[in-house]
Amino acid sequence: MTQTPSLAPLDQGTANAFASSWNNLPRGSVYTYEQFKDWLGPLTQQDIENALVLELGCGNGSLMLHMAGWHPSLIQGVDLGSSAITAAQNMEATTFLNWKVVQADLTTFESGGFDVVYCIGVLHHLKDPKHGLDAVIRNTSAGGRFHCWVYGKEGNGVVIALVEPLRRIACKLPWWVNKYLIATPLAVPFFVYAKLVSVLHDIKLVQRLPLYDYSKWIATRGFQFFRHVAFDQLVSPQTTYIPKITIENWLKSYPEIDPASVYIIMRNGNSWKFGAKLKCEY
Ligand SMILES: C[S@@+](CC[C@H](N)C(=O)[O-])C[C@H]1O[C@@H](n2cnc3c(N)ncnc32)[C@H](O)[C@@H]1O
Repeated sequence: MTQTPSLAPLDQGTANAFASSWNNLPRGSVYTYEQFKDWLGPLTQQDIENALVLELGCGNGSLMLHMAGWHPSLIQGVDLGSSAITAAQNMEATTFLNWKVVQADLTTFESGGFDVVYCIGVLHHLKDPKHGLDAVIRNTSAGGRFHCWVYGKEGNGVVIALVEPLRRIACKLPWWVNKYLIATPLAVPFFVYAKLVSVLHDIKLVQRLPLYDYSKWIATRGFQFFRHVAFDQLVSPQTTYIPKITIENWLKSYPEIDPASVYIIMRNGNSWKFGAKLKCEY
């Protein structure tokens, strides 16, 4: 069936832009196992073993590749972009067999329910982030749990002031111009900054510098990862920086969430991890 332009998913342009990033990387995960664990925490291997697991907005499958090592009974990825094909190729290259990748709009995605649903680095790129969270909750089984990570409004003042104006222009350029002529040179000073912050992290003055925690986190990686992150920032036509209060209000709006299980954790001083369990009956 042909899709008419008026029915095209709202986020198709964003997904196509991200595909230019994900489809032009070396095979395998861009993340280390330590990064994966950090992103998923407080979820651990115990929560995943033998569970039905869904990733909404799976990119090239970089998180799914690590997730497979935690032995879920099934790991399914959904992405609107052609990066779903790359994700499938990445998963095919593993010895893990119980996986599935679907190219679809997560905001309208329907399933029979998963024990664990996670959505990392996606909601802040949707035209309607709350609509994305609705999909996360809708696809989590009663008694199951969900986990999300978003860019924070808090701690990102420098990024919002300096990178955002550039992103609005850069995202309109051909991807390779953006990656090699804008993101790559931009990544150089940030690489030097983050490495310096990391080396000098004990000094009180350095601890007050912008993106201090984030710099320490990313400084463990090489230049290729810095460039990937810079391009990831600049390629997206849609980015929102989400304040904690918005997340609190979102979470309060779902009667199916068990309020005692809710967590909102600041990560690296400039982003939020949040999640909860759903009630067994609602
Ligand atoms: C920054 S990437 C994150 C990928 C992955 N979760 C990770 O952390 O490596 C955001 C992904 O969300 C996907 N995406 C954006 N809007 C979407 C939508 N409405 N439905 C499904 N995927 C979407 C993009 O195609 C992109 O691959």
